[in-house]
Amino acid sequence: MEDQKIEIPASLEALFEIALQINSIQEAETLLDRVLEIATTSIQADRGYILLSNEEKSDGFEVKSTFNLPNDQLGDIVNVSTSVVHRVLQTGDPVILYEAMEDKQFGLARSIVVQKIRSIACVPLRIKRRQIGAIYMDCLTDRGRFKQDNLPFLEAFSNLAAIAIENARFYNSLRAENSQLRKEIQQINGFDEIIGQSPAMRELFDVITRLLDNDASVLIHGESGTGKELVARAIHYNGHRKDKPFLAMFCGALPDTLLESELFGHKKGAFTGANTDKPGLFEVADGGTLFLDEVGDLSSSIQTALLRVLQEGEVKRVGETKVRHVDVRIVSASNKSLEDLIEEGVFREDLYYRLNTIPVSTPPLRDRIEDVPLLANFFLDKYAKGRRSHIKGFTHEAIEVMQGYHWPGNVRELQNTIERAVVMTSDDLIGKNDLKIKLPEKPLAHKYRKSAERGATLKHVERLVVEDALARNNGNVTRSAQELGVSRSWIHLRLKEWENSNP
Ligand SMILES: Nc1ncnc2c1ncn2[C@@H]1O[C@H](COP(=O)(O)OP(=O)(O)OP(=O)(O)O)[C@@H](O)[C@H]1O
Ligand SMILES: [Mg+2]
Repeated sequence: MEDQKIEIPASLEALFEIALQINSIQEAETLLDRVLEIATTSIQADRGYILLSNEEKSDGFEVKSTFNLPNDQLGDIVNVSTSVVHRVLQTGDPVILYEAMEDKQFGLARSIVVQKIRSIACVPLRIKRRQIGAIYMDCLTDRGRFKQDNLPFLEAFSNLAAIAIENARFYNSLRAENSQLRKEIQQINGFDEIIGQSPAMRELFDVITRLLDNDASVLIHGESGTGKELVARAIHYNGHRKDKPFLAMFCGALPDTLLESELFGHKKGAFTGANTDKPGLFEVADGGTLFLDEVGDLSSSIQTALLRVLQEGEVKRVGETKVRHVDVRIVSASNKSLEDLIEEGVFREDLYYRLNTIPVSTPPLRDRIEDVPLLANFFLDKYAKGRRSHIKGFTHEAIEVMQGYHWPGNVRELQNTIERAVVMTSDDLIGKNDLKIKLPEKPLAHKYRKSAERGATLKHVERLVVEDALARNNGNVTRSAQELGVSRSWIHLRLKEWENSNP
């Protein structure tokens, strides 16, 4: 039996093609070009264009795609076809002109005469009753290129095309909206895990954003629990080194030999227990970031070794003479004031300048008390979700108590407070008693009065004031000095004096 070849009419093929387009989400522009191409080839038009509604344009429409129409002719042709296109847009009915020049309605339109247009087909693009545009096509050579017979096909085609176009526009606008929202969120914060909207935190975000893409050393200073490590991670994971390692080294309370071999590595046999060659953190973090936590606790010999690495950009493993080049960004943190440590002679000033190219400070929670509700809810979500808890929020009183407290342990203390409350609370809301917040100590004035009653001298009160400031500032001399309006050395002098008078 002979193969029977089935002829598929061009119009059917075109409908099939356009149906395919509906299902493939794509750029609106590419889609429009494709729609016009299918339409013009299937009815053998010479030229064509698609017009789409655009509220920002004066006539409410805009030419979006053209076929065989060089830019310099576009203005003309749009003028030429206005009468036809207007009619289509107004009535929502297609127009087919078998012989344009002879047409009673349009034949005398100047344009048709001047451009010698023979046949025209123009179909509306409609979604339900709404006109979203039109497809215009014409023919300059033959009369009768387009006939009324083409109408059913053109209508079916334009209905499908309209759906495809609307889908693509909808998809594009969703995508634009999505990226806009993402940008806005980035602007609000940009660092997902660091919560805060107070001016102090905004300033911190600003500083972090500015230092992301350079390699300068960063020294983060802030009280315990203010998020120094969080900031260090944000600097690494939002910057250009994010695909390389981030390594953290806690520098406090470790014996020098251990610290040295951790940081710089060692050769096998360099000391008892060094059973293999081992690269140090500087080498492992190559290309990435090394976070030196509690850098103020480094001994003077490690400080000297560290300074050398930072100056040379090279490390030597313990017990080895070979030098290795390393490219590591240093982010360090301290809750002690390194300036104070320099003054006390326990921290090298030259190392300080190497580490502190860009200073960043994390504000204590009491200086951004307006962030407390935000943080409290953030931690509530975190802990309640994990436990599938019934807890929905906080009572007004609880929020008030939290905002009245001075949070010496900062965000970490708040976090622990909420975690405990989530376990303890049986109600829907966490109340002030669930928080177990110690009320502030008696005010200073009360202490003065007590001392005054005991006949205290001015010197005595001076000491009370200074000690109170130091206690509130976790022993931070710089901050206490600022608060009291005196110099740091004045405080140091007094401390020595009191030490001697009260062994
Ligand atoms: N702004 C913040 N938003 C959300 N969580 C925070 C924020 N600041 C701190 N935290 C959380 O509080 C805890 C303490 O933070 P982190 O360890 O970074 O503080 P730190 O300044 O390094 O403290 P320390 O000096 O004691 O080492 C962490 O669990 C951290 O996730
Ligand atoms: Mg820390």
